[in-house]
Amino acid sequence: MSQTDWTKSLDRRGLMRRSGLALAGLAFAPFAGCEARSTAIRRGDASTEPLAIPQLRMGQVEDGVRVFRLPISPGQKEFALGVSSPTIGIEAPYLGPTLEMRRGERVRFEVDNELAEGATVHWHGFELPATADGGPHQLIQPGERWSPSFEVRQRASLYWYHSHMHRRTGPQVYAGLAAAIYVRDDEEDRLGLPSDYGVDDIPLIVQDRVIDGSGRLIYPIGMHAQMMGVRGDEIFVNGTPNAVFEAKTGQLRLRILNGSNARFYSFSLEGGEPMQLIASDGGLLDRSHSVRSIALAPGERAQVIVDLSEGYPLRLIASSPDMGMMGRRSGGMMGGGMMARRNDQGESGQPFRVLDIRPSGSTRAQSLPSQLAALAPLDPSQAVRTRRFTLDMGMMGSGMSINAAAMDMDVINERIPVGQWEIWEIANASMMAHPFHIHNVQFRVIDRDGRPPPPLETGFKDTVIVNPREQVRLLLRFEEHTDPDWPYMYHCHILEHEDAGMMGQFVVVKG
Ligand code: C2O
Ligand code: CU
Ligand code: CU
Repeated sequence: MSQTDWTKSLDRRGLMRRSGLALAGLAFAPFAGCEARSTAIRRGDASTEPLAIPQLRMGQVEDGVRVFRLPISPGQKEFALGVSSPTIGIEAPYLGPTLEMRRGERVRFEVDNELAEGATVHWHGFELPATADGGPHQLIQPGERWSPSFEVRQRASLYWYHSHMHRRTGPQVYAGLAAAIYVRDDEEDRLGLPSDYGVDDIPLIVQDRVIDGSGRLIYPIGMHAQMMGVRGDEIFVNGTPNAVFEAKTGQLRLRILNGSNARFYSFSLEGGEPMQLIASDGGLLDRSHSVRSIALAPGERAQVIVDLSEGYPLRLIASSPDMGMMGRRSGGMMGGGMMARRNDQGESGQPFRVLDIRPSGSTRAQSLPSQLAALAPLDPSQAVRTRRFTLDMGMMGSGMSINAAAMDMDVINERIPVGQWEIWEIANASMMAHPFHIHNVQFRVIDRDGRPPPPLETGFKDTVIVNPREQVRLLLRFEEHTDPDWPYMYHCHILEHEDAGMMGQFVVVKG
């Protein structure tokens, strides 16, 4: 398809028209139609909400293909006792099931859009054909089904799926269109890590939400929130506020996903206990690292093992600096800088409570193997070219851009030859940190302003924090799936920045 055909095909499907309509409704509006399902969230005693564990779905194997049926539908959820708010969920009022699949197998999804608006579903972290990616070009109209299929090439890890609707990703993810994916493989199985889902292997989708005085979920988009991203001052884990998990084992594997629209967190245990960091976005690190805090920007994941063998309760907390000014230069926070000030959402400066963990059974912990995975040594000299990307926001967030251009559905920003190593230099010209995400690849971090990356960035990543005035160098290669017509995205994973245009498109072409 030529560029012109490509534009036409978009028009044919009415994408331009629909996204224009959707924009008019940017304020978080109730979702019309369809009968609503409801969950009751009990507030009250602030520490007694059992952590919701999303249903685990393994799909159904049909002719050797693992098939998942995913209805996306409007829901109702009580974020505060007795007050329902409209939501979006997948087989649930809010969020959706964890999908489990194995590396090497073929999967297919039957995604039914039962909403009154268009939606997309993107498989974050996966290498796949561009037409299966679920980005803004794979629009699913209301009442339509989308059935992408691909081979799971990814290493075992925690991935996720979420809306990538053009200019509506922020409100749709916020309303609940997101969930976890577990990829498993033989390499990881051999290590005998905790992997009993919901028992000693726990997904934690961490999201902040704004609940107004009447108890309703609101998406407070406005000039300020567009610049800062939408941030709430209440934390929900898998949709649960004040979550408590009763552990029955002597150690737990926590798979943490920062599923927030804009907020950065630094997670730690309240008593300063160490956690064993074992994996980043794209799977196991070469070895475990004993850490006391883990910084995650929106879109990033980490896996840790926490030890409960002493038999006393632990509390996972998260501090969240203003403006996303989170530094990894020294492994911790950066000072606020000139724009640092009190958060607009009324945050008190106290860390958020994320999860209380109560041991109630075995106090036996196994020791971790010293070597986790064999990662190829990082060799930037393999790269045949360097591409540079500069992230900027313009005055007061009025000019969200990458390389001075805002996202344009009709423009392919980069054409990338398949199979060649490249260095991507990501520079941040703005005053705020941005998590830079690239579709269809797991990359390695070479350095930050010339300095080696911290433990979480020693393995495979698909999203990386770029601090103000910093330059991060990535090493990557697109291994297959050429398609001159259908693009993948790279973008800031602060969803309001993405929606406002801090995104670009690339195609992978024959070399
Ligand atoms: Cu998690 Cu392009 O997105
Ligand atoms: Cu993605
Ligand atoms: Cu950003």
